[in-house]
Amino acid sequence: MGNKAKNKSFAHAPIISNQNIYQIFASVTFPIDECTYPRYNQIYTENVFHKIKGDMTMPAWLKDAVFYEIYPQTFKDTNNDGIGDIKGIIEKLDYVKELGCNALWINPIYDSPFKDAGYDVRDYKKVAPRYGTMDDVERLFEEAHKRNIHVLLDLVPGHTSEEHEWFTESKKAERNEFSDRYVWTNCWFHGIAGHPYVGGEAERDGCYMLNFFKCQPALNYGFGKITADWQKSPEDPACIATREALKDVMRFWLDKGCDGFRVDMADSLVKDDDENKSNTGKIWKNIREMLDNDYPEAAIISEWSNPQQALKNGFHADFYLDHQGNGYNTLLRDNETPGGDHSFLKKDGEGDIMRFLLDYLPKYDDTKDDGYISFITCNHDTPRARFTLSPEELKIAWALFLTLPGVPFIYYGDEIGMRYLNGLPTKEGGYTRTGSRSPMQWDSTQNYGFSNAEKESLYIPQDESEDAPTVEKQKDDPDSLLNTTKALIALRHQYLDLQADGSFEVIYAEKEQFPFVYRRGNLLIAINPSDKKASCALTPEAFTRKDENKQSAAHGVFSIGSHSLSGNSLIMEAQSFVVFELS
Ligand code: NOJ
Repeated sequence: MGNKAKNKSFAHAPIISNQNIYQIFASVTFPIDECTYPRYNQIYTENVFHKIKGDMTMPAWLKDAVFYEIYPQTFKDTNNDGIGDIKGIIEKLDYVKELGCNALWINPIYDSPFKDAGYDVRDYKKVAPRYGTMDDVERLFEEAHKRNIHVLLDLVPGHTSEEHEWFTESKKAERNEFSDRYVWTNCWFHGIAGHPYVGGEAERDGCYMLNFFKCQPALNYGFGKITADWQKSPEDPACIATREALKDVMRFWLDKGCDGFRVDMADSLVKDDDENKSNTGKIWKNIREMLDNDYPEAAIISEWSNPQQALKNGFHADFYLDHQGNGYNTLLRDNETPGGDHSFLKKDGEGDIMRFLLDYLPKYDDTKDDGYISFITCNHDTPRARFTLSPEELKIAWALFLTLPGVPFIYYGDEIGMRYLNGLPTKEGGYTRTGSRSPMQWDSTQNYGFSNAEKESLYIPQDESEDAPTVEKQKDDPDSLLNTTKALIALRHQYLDLQADGSFEVIYAEKEQFPFVYRRGNLLIAINPSDKKASCALTPEAFTRKDENKQSAAHGVFSIGSHSLSGNSLIMEAQSFVVFELS
């Protein structure tokens, strides 16, 4: 990493304005030199059809799901316009299958002016022409299903584009069906304390609330705490109508064959909600009821990053996102803390697994009967892990994520260690996120096989380094990151104990010490990401199978680097990982 992390933060001040871009992060941190990266702090901050987990119905397929996130703009371009498309995704389904992933999350593909890369939806029921047609999407569902791959689309429930017809109607002075579809004050001069808003843009006398950028007016699901007469209760018919309109959008896509949704800013619906977000939670419970009744195989996965709230309010899984100082951040993205990068997975980070466990364990223990926590290698909003970790470090990192409980997500290109391209000009509201959105590097042909367009017309430029990773370069090297990732995914499919519901127990974890040892059912797993040899003495119980009361033999079934086990003493060489089966 060339640039030293810098920390800055600022509080967002509400404004009345009709131009520019407003970000509504409660605080925004700037980790990457002057180039900044926003973080989402907590402001909004085969088939048995389903099974029972706790007292909830769950789509059975989630248990063994390993997701692959596809940013459609930059995965594969088949019509040579420099932008990826649906046909490109179909063309690469066999690759996804071979990698071992059996589920996809595709970022928004809907009609949009693309001021926030498609998270500004202009028409929820229309496919953006640049990605293809509705027929293409239906074919994608069919082709994916033929390969036993489930497909989640991205649902954006909190806001639309300012160009959505609901909003253009809502802006009108005369009252109409959509007047209350968005959050409006009742006077042009009265703003919204504590929230970003825009005035002076509509014929209508009032200011409207934003949910994210200036182009994304907030849909109206009501207010938890009502302090002004223009605010509506979540039970108000207008707010119920918004919820029902969202359900209609979901049904539309589920009926076309999609398998559920990743849900954008899922906790942002009811404004000024209580601290448990119980009003927002009620909406999701209502939506979950619809799914349980009518689409029991469909899954909803939240961008909430608070599993105690999300999973108890209807979501099947919730992402563990990168928030500065949280458990996930301490594993591989702790490069903003003064004093250097102390990430546990950085070989010289001198990290501390306890920082992760103290955050993760209560979340896991409280929610393991409700749903799943999703570990991500990265996503389209986060700098790629390769920014600070080498391919060797990434192998150990992916080994950890693919052997923890819950439903893991691999961000396209992370399986080959694609770089974060620091300093790229912003594209479609990406800003510093743009560097994580560059086109997939398939092979050594033009534009790494992404597109036959002129290099200059690619949606985002590509990695120019001589050693830019590609699928082609790694596919025949048994030791490559690609093949290590494949082997890890295959292992996860092979052992029920490694899958979403398998138990998780900490066996050896000491402050600032390596290794970290844990059990998943009858598998004993040890990880030493550091560049120094590490050892620990384990108790006989660590080697005792669940169904027995005497110590079992431990057979290594997967390893990276070297280790040795003598009696109950485990020695892990630098940068090593091992899975033992107890039998
Ligand atoms: C979260 C999405 O992941 C991000 O890309 C988008 O800009 C915001 N939500 C607004 O929809």
